[in-house]
Amino acid sequence: MNKTESRKDEHVQVALEKNVSSDHNYWDDIKLVHNALPEINKNDIDLSTKLFNKKLGVPIIIASMTGGYSKAKKINENLAIAAEKYQLGMGVGSQRAALEKDELKETYSVIKNYDIPLRFANIGASQIVIWGREKTLENARQMIDMINADAFIVCLNFLQEAVMPEGESNAKGVYVAIKQLAEDLDTPVIVKESGAGISYDVAKKLSKTKISGIDVGGLSGTSFSAIEHYRAQMINDKLHERGGKTFWNWGIPTPTSILNVGDATNWKIPIIATGGIRNGLDAAKSLVLGADAAGIAKTLLEPAILGKTQILEEVDVIVKELRAAMYLLGVDKISNMPDADWTIVGGQLWI
Ligand SMILES: Cc1cc2nc3c(=O)[nH]c(=O)nc-3n(C[C@H](O)[C@H](O)[C@H](O)COP(=O)(O)O)c2cc1C
Repeated sequence: MNKTESRKDEHVQVALEKNVSSDHNYWDDIKLVHNALPEINKNDIDLSTKLFNKKLGVPIIIASMTGGYSKAKKINENLAIAAEKYQLGMGVGSQRAALEKDELKETYSVIKNYDIPLRFANIGASQIVIWGREKTLENARQMIDMINADAFIVCLNFLQEAVMPEGESNAKGVYVAIKQLAEDLDTPVIVKESGAGISYDVAKKLSKTKISGIDVGGLSGTSFSAIEHYRAQMINDKLHERGGKTFWNWGIPTPTSILNVGDATNWKIPIIATGGIRNGLDAAKSLVLGADAAGIAKTLLEPAILGKTQILEEVDVIVKELRAAMYLLGVDKISNMPDADWTIVGGQLWI
């Protein structure tokens, strides 16, 4: 295993074995207002939606997680089975490992065997800065072909890079690199945070590029700082163990980020809400706040490792919860979700 492979393996192991969530889940601070006269038939609720010109059965995306080491193939395959059955969008983890080592391609490309309506390729933003314009375009095309991707995610992971032992710490030129890629690539480019959220100002800046969507990737669920805290602990690296702890709760809450990005972009760019979504009710909350789809990572990781039955059961429950929430709001189609009422209840949410 080279360094990139073992890092991907360790991320999954740590995420499964340790508590790596932010101390507070900000979805708990949002309540949807009950509609005691819903006047709809629960069975008639239409969960389908369109995103990046593709029809999804449910506005849920299996967020980018893995690939790049041998065991990841099975995880991606089980996730793909669920994505096919429920017609969800699906991302794979950073594909850098497959660019470095050919035989790892199949740990990602396995998802090509399934009828998934929307697939996302993925690379870390620091990587495209290092590659430069031409190499980035060439590599992006390879990553897209690898999984027949419909969209290309550039993942902003500077929190992780800042606290991890082997992190890249030069973000100079990242905005221009994203801007150029969105100009050069025919496939839609999505900018995704990976747990620290996107602010109003950053969204405003990104909206001046040709990117096609933003995944706010906010604070509420998996904290990459927490993951790096435990990875540093494993190698007795005190400095990074401490840094991971210090920045454990760094970031903009996912609900706040949805509202910020929506305001900054006049709600014209599709928004994916990833970060802390644990069930169909959290997903419903994200849609009411204005997201076009909810992204789920950690909640789907464990059942995907356990097996096909477990992942299908988990997704089935999430979809049923989303349907139940819509019923109780009296909303029978996804595009009407932002009309439902919501409120903030105490908690720690800042907007
Ligand atoms: C094990 C693991 C690996 C991840 N790898 C990637 C990655 O390669 N690229 C990426 O954009 N996000 C990656 N993420 C971040 C997720 O896509 C997501 O933004 C984050 O986990 C928050 O969602 P959650 O609270 O539902 O877990 C990873 C998450 C986990 C748990």
